[in-house]
Amino acid sequence: MTPIRIVVLISGSGSNLQAIIDGCKSGQINGSIAAVISNKADAYGLTRAKLADIHTEVLDHKAFASRDAYDNALADVINQFSPDLVVLAGFMRILTPDLVQKFKGKMLNIHPSLLPKYQGLNTHQRAIDANDAEHGVSVHFVTEELDGGPVIVQAKVAIESNETAQSLAEKVHVQEHVIYPLVVQWFSEHRLTMEAEHAVLDNQVVPAQGVNYP
Ligand code: GRF
Repeated sequence: MTPIRIVVLISGSGSNLQAIIDGCKSGQINGSIAAVISNKADAYGLTRAKLADIHTEVLDHKAFASRDAYDNALADVINQFSPDLVVLAGFMRILTPDLVQKFKGKMLNIHPSLLPKYQGLNTHQRAIDANDAEHGVSVHFVTEELDGGPVIVQAKVAIESNETAQSLAEKVHVQEHVIYPLVVQWFSEHRLTMEAEHAVLDNQVVPAQGVNYP
């Protein structure tokens, strides 16, 4: 099987990027990262990429007059690397429908909640404030709806009585670093596709809440 070409988009620390770098290195993922693109020049994920000898690009959204102009330029940069898969790993930008359309079925995102709960920001605090017993993380295909595309996998963590947003985020991160490389692995093995707004894994439609991990 031909190894897939992956482009990863980041804005920050890049710990999920690191998990995917490690998954490519270990052979878990049948592919390699062709480029890491950040909208922030000081994102630590760029250092992680350089340490792994991966090409980096910075495309600062502040240099563009509009969201459309930025997303057009971003699509051009992404396409320079002819990716089979585009991975959003803490890329803190709302994408235009036009951009999403260009990469439909080959763009993934990770969102720190049990979607469809808590789309948007501050998910950990919102789960605590709602007295939820459990929280977690979802990996999904990206569609025009923010954090609304078909879920592929969810991992759950318990919310303890003394939980803080910080402690909860740490527990969720541990799960993120397992399930994101796993989903990229499936995609690299051609076992995962998006068809008619559903995720399909091993020829089975994935249920709305995704496959439960573990
Ligand atoms: C993660 O919590 C992810 O779920 C969210 O952004 C964060 C990125 O963290 N989309 P990192 O940059 O991968 O460490």
